[in-house]
Order: sequence, then C-alpha cells, then structure tokens
Amino acid sequence: MTKIYQQIVVAFLALTVYVKDVTSAGCLSEVDDIDYPKSIRSDLYRGEQAFTVSMLDAINKATPNENIFFSPYSTYHALLLAYFGARNETEAELIKALNLNWPKNKNHVRQAYIAEKKSRKMRSDNSPIDFASADRIFFSKEATLHECMRDIFSEELQVMDFRSNPEQCRMEINSWIANVTRNEIPEVLNAGDIATDTNLVLGNAAYFKGQWEAKFDAKDTTKEVFYTSSNKQTFVDMMHINGTYALSVDERLRAHVLEMPYLSDKKGGISMVIILPPFEPNSLDEVLKRLTPDTLNMALKEGMAREIEISLPKFEFEQNIELLPILNKMGINQLFGPNADLSGFSVDKQLSLGDAKHVAKIKVDEEGSTAAAATVLFSFRSARPIEPTKFECNHPFLFLIYDHKTQAILFTGIYRDPMTQK
Ligand SMILES: *[C@@H]1O[C@H](CO)[C@@H](O)[C@H](O)[C@H]1NC(C)=O
Ligand SMILES: *[C@@H]1O[C@H](CO)[C@@H](O)[C@H](O)[C@H]1NC(C)=O
Ligand SMILES: *[C@@H]1O[C@H](CO)[C@@H](O)[C@H](O)[C@H]1NC(C)=O
Repeated sequence: MTKIYQQIVVAFLALTVYVKDVTSAGCLSEVDDIDYPKSIRSDLYRGEQAFTVSMLDAINKATPNENIFFSPYSTYHALLLAYFGARNETEAELIKALNLNWPKNKNHVRQAYIAEKKSRKMRSDNSPIDFASADRIFFSKEATLHECMRDIFSEELQVMDFRSNPEQCRMEINSWIANVTRNEIPEVLNAGDIATDTNLVLGNAAYFKGQWEAKFDAKDTTKEVFYTSSNKQTFVDMMHINGTYALSVDERLRAHVLEMPYLSDKKGGISMVIILPPFEPNSLDEVLKRLTPDTLNMALKEGMAREIEISLPKFEFEQNIELLPILNKMGINQLFGPNADLSGFSVDKQLSLGDAKHVAKIKVDEEGSTAAAATVLFSFRSARPIEPTKFECNHPFLFLIYDHKTQAILFTGIYRDPMTQK
C-alpha cells in the first residue's frame, strides 16, 4: 500500500532593493522607554493582511489569466527593512502601503520586529512544521551605518565590497537565499543585477514545509477533469480525502472557505485556507473584490467542523515577479526613485533605489507512487448547497498559507489552469 506523503514545500525569496548612496544624521526617529508586553510580536502583522489583499489585487490585474503564487510575508519583511531606514516622504509612503497605522512610533514597530524574530526562533525547535525566514541588509563597505542600526540589526547586517567585486557579491547573496530556502531558490539575482555602484541590498528569504495533519492516500488519487473555464477543461491528478474540516459557506465572500491544517505540535498552527467560489463566470474576481482582512477573518472564525469529501489537485508552481510595477501600483514609488530618503540607514551616503524581484515556488509533493489512475467526470452544482458535504477544487480557487498565531499570511496564490503550471 502506498501512502501519499503529502507535503507542501514552499520556498521563495522576496524583494531585493538596490540602493545607491546617504546624507543626514539621526536614527530611528523617536525612541521611548515603554515596556512593551510580550504580545507585541503579534502587532507586527496587523497591517500585513490588508497589504496581502492589495498585492494580490495588483498581481492579479497584471497577470489576469494565470496562476499566481507569492509570499506577502516575505515582501512585507523586505519592505519593513526599508521602512526602518526610510525618512520623510519615503517613510510616509511605506507607512501607508504597509498599513503601519497601529504603532505609536517607529520604535514600537522595531520592538514588535525583535519580539517576533525571537518567538519564531523558539518555535522552530521540535515542531513538525519547518518554517524559516531571514532578513538581511547587505551594505557597501564605503557606507557608514548609524550606530543604532548596528544595534538593532546586528544579525541582519552584512558588509559587502560591491565596488571591487560585484559578481562575487551577487553570488554571495544568491547563496544566502539558497541556504535559507534549502536550495529551492538557487538564483534570484542574475548576472549584472549587482554593479560597482550598488550600495545596499535588502532581502528576505523564507521557507515552509508542512505535512497535512491528515494525509491523502495515493490510491485515492485519480485523473479527473479540472474546469479552467466554462468551455475549457484539462485533466489533473486529483487527490481525495474524507474527514472533518472547518468549512464556512460564506455569504460575504460568496465562496466556500475550507481550512486544512498542517501537522503541528500545538493548537493554532499553520493551515492552508482554500477559498472556492461557485463555478460561474468571473466568480473568482468577485471573491477578490470582496476579500478584505475582515471578510477573511470572519470566514475563518465562522468555519464549522463538518464531515467533508475533499478533492484537491496536486500542484506545483514557480513564479518570478517583477515587483517594481506591482509595488508602484500599491503606492510605493519614491522608495524606488531618485529622491528616495533612506537617511535612517547611514550618515554619509545618498541612497536611491533600483529594482525589486520576487521569486516564489510551491510544490505539492507525493512520495511514493500513485497507485491507481481513473478518470471521473464530475458534474457541477453551481447553486450553493445548503449543507455541503463536498469540497471539489475542480475549478479555479484561491489559497493561502496562514499562520494562526501571528495572523500572518505566509504565502498565497490562485490556481487557475493546470496547463500553465511551470
Ligand atoms: C527629513 O527628515 C529629517 C529627520 O527626520 C529632517 O531633519 C529633514 O529635514 C527632512 N528632510 C526633508 C527634505 O524633509
Ligand atoms: C545556512 O542555514 C543554516 C540553517 O538553516 C544556518 O545554520 C547556517 O548558518 C546557514 N549558512 C550560511 C552560510 O548562511
Ligand atoms: C468518501 O466518501 C464517499 C461517500 O461515502 C465515497 O464514495 C468515497 O470513496 C470516499 N472517499 C475517500 C477518499 O475515502
């Protein structure tokens, strides 16, 4: 008997920002002496869900008919690094785009950042979930960083000799990413991306590997039809499982929302959340219009445990995103322009920005062999059933990998078309 060792392996890297030069002195603007509570770490992602929704919208508009996969979490982290060094208007646009409207001041965000990093390290020890994330600030050896930056980012800072050996620096950055992502993402920066006048590279790399709390059995996996649209269909390897899952039939999103937990040693771990609209033209776009942090959280809260028959395709994607136009659409412009104010980083260099990239990859793995192959055609129930017992992901859906503890959306994507996977 062959079991499917169903695992989701996700890896990715986020943003890379090149900065070329800084003036003006000072550090994190306001420093206060408040003793922040331990719960401060969950503050860090208070704006991340809204950021995710707006990033998803921007990417979906840029590539409307394709599969989508990215890590809002990673992008958010890389932009947070920029925020810590940003001043004036550059800082203001980041506060807006990152929805940093909750903190008292910059130090509050800094404390949350530090607390979150500590708690992540503690949890990774003997958890069956493997989640790693690292931020790094690679800066030119010609730039003198503010002392307080050295205090806050002692683990993130790495001095680089961009001027004499840009190619060597590029390879070092790529290998750092490859290492964090367990080699899932070996080369993000291409030849020529780092030049002699590069001054600063801000990066985040993240990796997640989890096993379903209840694994699919390979002998239940069959070739089945996936309805890409009303007149286009393709065969996929459809996995099947029957079990008890939290499901909400959500009126606000006009979709069914299913939560599939990954094996965890604690309650409130990480889940895949699948948002499946009815099979009707444009229903996925309707869901995206209705998706907000509030509607998402409501749907998650209202999920009720039910016996459900789940059908989910095996899938795998890799996506390279030119992040600059996406971030521009999200209101981040000055950060990448000649007037970027990143004087919070350094006393002596004038910083300005170059480019941004995002690479993301998801794989739904099956270890062992698929024991049976059959073709079953499903018929659709486009009207919403009162008491659903089936959750058939045989038409486009949205999925999120969601961390309940921090309420951060780690990864998200849209599965539209099995033929465009790769
Ligand atoms: C930018 O901010 C710094 C300190 O926050 C201030 O000293 C400087 O005058 C500001 N520059 C501009 C152009 O607003
Ligand atoms: C590679 O990653 C491991 C843990 O994932 C870490 O301990 C090690 O220091 C990293 N090596 C480099 C060169 O970054
Ligand atoms: C789930 O239950 C249905 C109805 O009882 C059954 O036909 C199907 O084979 C079951 N699927 C799995 C994967 O056990």
